Amino acid sequence: MKAALAVFGQALAHAASGQDSIVDFTSITGDTLARMNAADWYSDSRPGDDALLEPCHASTLDVGCGPGRLVTALASRGVAALGIDISAEAVTEALGRRAAARLCDVFADVPDAGWWGHAVLADGNIGIGGHPVRLLCRCAALLRPGGTIVAETSAPGSGSWRHPVRLRHNGFDSPPFWWAAVAADDIPAVAREANLTVARQWAATGRWFAELLPQT
Ligand SMILES: C[S@@+](CC[C@H](N)C(=O)[O-])C[C@H]1O[C@@H](n2cnc3c(N)ncnc32)[C@H](O)[C@@H]1O
Repeated sequence: MKAALAVFGQALAHAASGQDSIVDFTSITGDTLARMNAADWYSDSRPGDDALLEPCHASTLDVGCGPGRLVTALASRGVAALGIDISAEAVTEALGRRAAARLCDVFADVPDAGWWGHAVLADGNIGIGGHPVRLLCRCAALLRPGGTIVAETSAPGSGSWRHPVRLRHNGFDSPPFWWAAVAADDIPAVAREANLTVARQWAATGRWFAELLPQT
């Protein structure tokens, strides 16, 4: 993962200079599975962010926060928020933007585990670790009673997948690591496997979201 983070760090550095910074998630055979623009993560807000954050009224953990765009947005609404990320470049950038952020793996020791009102998985982060059920179970364990997971999914019908992928940026390919995508029409089944229920699903500006509750 360390070498993958180096490619990710280069993409972030490129985006920091104000340019588009395309990051492709490619299969082992070189097919593009997903394309992202790191400049979006750097912007103050992406179209659809307001709709994504709408359920977050209590303390919120942004899992894989990147340079802290969503943490900053939540703080400006008066919501206590912390971003965690395993990329030192991302956390440094987030702190530089006055977003509360920690260098931390979601599967390791997370601050205030068990006390978060919401855990956010945005911008494809439901793919972290390449095992969405495991990730959702982990996020559920970070919540306080009554807490929810707010997850961004892919569009309905776009298909869900789990694969070893490489990050490709500016001609550089990272070593492979596991990643996943979950389409909106597959999230109910994935949630059920993680002992969660879908409280609601909604869409805004071509982005798809789901709020998940631990089953009682
Ligand atoms: C697709 S980017 C999301 C960018 C971010 N949401 C933003 O607004 O900038 C995925 C992020 O997840 C982070 N990440 C990957 N695995 C992680 C893990 N196990 N724990 C925490 N963060 C992780 C990456 O370092 C990266 O910043």
